[in-house]
Amino acid sequence: MHVEAAGLYFDYSKNRLTHATLALLCDLARQCGLPERRDAMFRGDPVNATEKRAALHTALRAPKGVKVVADGVDVVPEVHALLDRMADFARQVRNGQWRGYTGKPIRNVINIGIGGSDLGPAMACEALRHDSHAGLHMRFVSNIDPADLHEATRGLHAEETLFIVCSKSFRTFDTLTNARAARQWCVAQLGDERAVANHFVAVSSQAQAVAEFGIDTRHLFGLWDWVGGRYSMDSAIGLSTMIAIGPDNFHRLLAGFRAMDVHFQTAPLHHNMPVLHGLIAVWNNNFLGAETQAVLPYSHALRRLPAYLQQLVMESNGKHVTASGQQVPRPTSPIVWGEPGTNGQHSFFQLLHQGTRLAPCDFIGFCRTTTGQAAQHDLLMANLFAQSEALAFGKSGQELRDEGVPSEQIAQRVCEGNRPSNTVLADELSPFTLGALIALYEHSVFTQGVLWNIDSFDQWGVELGKVLAKRIAAELAAGDGAAMAHDSSTNMLIRRYRANASASGDLP
Ligand code: F6P
Repeated sequence: MHVEAAGLYFDYSKNRLTHATLALLCDLARQCGLPERRDAMFRGDPVNATEKRAALHTALRAPKGVKVVADGVDVVPEVHALLDRMADFARQVRNGQWRGYTGKPIRNVINIGIGGSDLGPAMACEALRHDSHAGLHMRFVSNIDPADLHEATRGLHAEETLFIVCSKSFRTFDTLTNARAARQWCVAQLGDERAVANHFVAVSSQAQAVAEFGIDTRHLFGLWDWVGGRYSMDSAIGLSTMIAIGPDNFHRLLAGFRAMDVHFQTAPLHHNMPVLHGLIAVWNNNFLGAETQAVLPYSHALRRLPAYLQQLVMESNGKHVTASGQQVPRPTSPIVWGEPGTNGQHSFFQLLHQGTRLAPCDFIGFCRTTTGQAAQHDLLMANLFAQSEALAFGKSGQELRDEGVPSEQIAQRVCEGNRPSNTVLADELSPFTLGALIALYEHSVFTQGVLWNIDSFDQWGVELGKVLAKRIAAELAAGDGAAMAHDSSTNMLIRRYRANASASGDLP
């Protein structure tokens, strides 16, 4: 029970299933129309039904010459033209040709964005730090908490700092608030509004809003409607990644995505890595009753991967109705969580081994380290292999007795085993491997969404909170006199906050 593709080796043998189970799950996938739905996605059909849009992230990594038609237009030449513009800009920043307002080269790049406009590049820049420009410091600001930007800019000189404002819609409150505060910080240091031209670029699909903000649209890198936020790390949203690792490595990242795309499109279902991964997730979730999915990269560089996958998986498949509005009659997306190994072992692994809940795990590891310290890397990987073995096979009371463990401790020390996990093993954490790994999860999420018949590409559930936050922000700004018509709990919380909050000045 293993399959290899795009430089990844996927071992799914430590699951509670047999070949017969898998054959039945593949039948289920066929009955749900997975091959047809997959082909429709690659073809550019409006698979995002509720927003009547294509989900063509796979076109972002299609090589020149491949044709992908959306709304009657072959989008691949446009994709490559944009990649070339990004590469040109990234090279200028990397080699010091791009100058700040006072003529100094850029040393700090701060990406301002949230959700899909932050998590992918933040994760990729950490993951590929060993392939990155040593003289450039990459930082990421996402949280509307002013502490985030405050910390990111602390000790920096504006004249050496470039801001990339990333927002597909260019109306995300968190991002625009931070971008305005960053502009204020920059102009205050450099003493001239004109400095914005040298220190701010944007990634967005909304040129007019970018211009209104004050960023020259010659410094705008575009996005198409058919790129969803959480599927955008390989689009212009990856500009910070490209600046960090360079255009050649970015193309290697795209090649990794592409290799997994081709595998997903062409391999038979029972040998198809994303399909198997997705079917096992459905098996664990709907048949065995697991509610969560732990992601455990045995790689310090991949420490942001669980956060990235939380958005990819849960914003895509955390849905209660089908694409046509019917109640889904079974649980949908698992709750994704995780930490890198070995840290997690000294915190929550106790529950994985002996708790009463079923918590399937994805282990991710690499044969070679990028640090040159192979012996210490062996210790890391010994832990990964040990954990999946211990989860699967446990330790019985008899084995403990045979080892001479005192009888009063036997019950406490028994590990039942039979706890499911997958392991993804690759030779090393390269741009190519990272691309393949992310595409594996993207297509697994798609597979799961097809089985639940939900729209994996919309996210209506996030809207209500945004609307309420706007209303409450206006009430907070209006002070004590503002009428409040919330529930009693919310009214009391707001009153208590107002009574104790520091006096607020003007927003940037
Ligand atoms: O609120 C959720 C969301 O719309 C995500 O889907 C998206 O990735 C994020 O906000 C940021 O959106 P934008 O890039 O438009 O600022």
